[in-house]
Amino acid sequence: MDSKLSTDAFFATVAEKSHGAALRGDYAKADADYVVEQEWQAYTPEQHALWRRLYERQAKLVPGRACDEFIEGLHHLDAAAGIPDLKRASALLFKATGWQLVAVPGLVPELTFFTHLANRRFPVTVWLRTPEEFDYIVEPDIFHDFFGHVPLLLNPVFADYLQQYGKAGLKALELGGLENLARLYWYTIEFGLIRTPQGLRAYGAGILSSGGEVEYCLHSSVPRRIALDVERVMRTLYKIDTYQETYFVIQDFQQLFEHTAPDFTPIYARLKTLPTLPADTLLPGEQNLGVM
Ligand code: PHE
Ligand code: FE
Repeated sequence: MDSKLSTDAFFATVAEKSHGAALRGDYAKADADYVVEQEWQAYTPEQHALWRRLYERQAKLVPGRACDEFIEGLHHLDAAAGIPDLKRASALLFKATGWQLVAVPGLVPELTFFTHLANRRFPVTVWLRTPEEFDYIVEPDIFHDFFGHVPLLLNPVFADYLQQYGKAGLKALELGGLENLARLYWYTIEFGLIRTPQGLRAYGAGILSSGGEVEYCLHSSVPRRIALDVERVMRTLYKIDTYQETYFVIQDFQQLFEHTAPDFTPIYARLKTLPTLPADTLLPGEQNLGVM
């Protein structure tokens, strides 16, 4: 398969479980919140060199394809030179939006993940992929987590959205809404597109850490591009091992925040009575926005 993407730090959990594969990180030293020491000094020169190659490729792809907020955040983080020291990046982030980074061995359980987000802590995997995984990695590594996710945490509105999402996760666990809420994460935080005066741009981390999807999501005529509708997103299945068949488009981060503000409790109840939709669905009356 040549359509490759970085899977996501949360939903890959589901995939991993269903494939029964063991997780790759070292969980032995993790505390109760799954937090570890990054041990930044232990990265090898080869690993820093691989980071620089990954960073360089991606940094060339994002201008004109990522939204301005992402590009600004990326510059601010200044992480081109090598694998970032998470403590330093965390201090910078904390000053900007009150978020912190915590080092984790890899994927963490849903409850742990949501609890970190709800407290404005973003879990970043400590290990880096191997050179053989340059184009494709199954589990999220530090490149996906840091390059893909951290830049937008410097944006105040997006930062608030992610915290609200974490709180919503804790609630969804109680209400049996986890799958619905997971799809919202997938189609916004991982694979979201945004309209800008200059045209369509990407803001999802799964896109922005991918060598191929960042171009595909904007310019391929294959996938559908549909204006964000929260309930529709929550019914929509997704593919984890190919490029997305549908992208949902937001107007701006404020709109994303506002559309997700209402209590999801009645939505979860309603969706229990409605069928899920395949990833390539276009409902009657829905407009495929095309490549704009
Ligand atoms: N409105 C959601 C709820 O009641 C909370 C939420 C906010 C969810 C932001 C996602 C993103 O659960
Ligand atoms: Fe992710």
